[in-house]
Amino acid sequence: MPELVALSLLATTLAMAAPPAMADSLDPDALKRLVHQDCGSCHGLTLKGGLGPDIRPQTLEGYDPEILQFIILEGMPGTAMPPW
Ligand code: HEC
Repeated sequence: MPELVALSLLATTLAMAAPPAMADSLDPDALKRLVHQDCGSCHGLTLKGGLGPDIRPQTLEGYDPEILQFIILEGMPGTAMPPW
């Protein structure tokens, strides 16, 4: 199921962004809540887009994981997308 693969990819990216101790304690459900709450404030609670664009897994599938990681960790200068 490509959607799950993409979601776990996003989860992995975020887990790498978290401090090691935090990554250890992150279970997939907690991570999903974090993405929906923290990213959802701008990207919409269903991640379909709001202030920021649609970031549902199926939308991000075509992106290079390294680019996604960079966008999430560094933010997008000049836009409302913050670095994490
Ligand atoms: C303060 C609001 C805000 C928050 C919080 C936020 N974003 Fe964003 N994000 C944006 C905006 C605005 C853009 C679009 C920037 C542009 O291209 O003009 C964006 C763009 C992106 C993009 C690029 C999408 C594309 O198609 O180009 C990704 C991926 C992304 N955000 C992921 C995330 C993730 C994951 C989180 C949570 C860890 C998050 N964002 C939290 C505002 C936010």
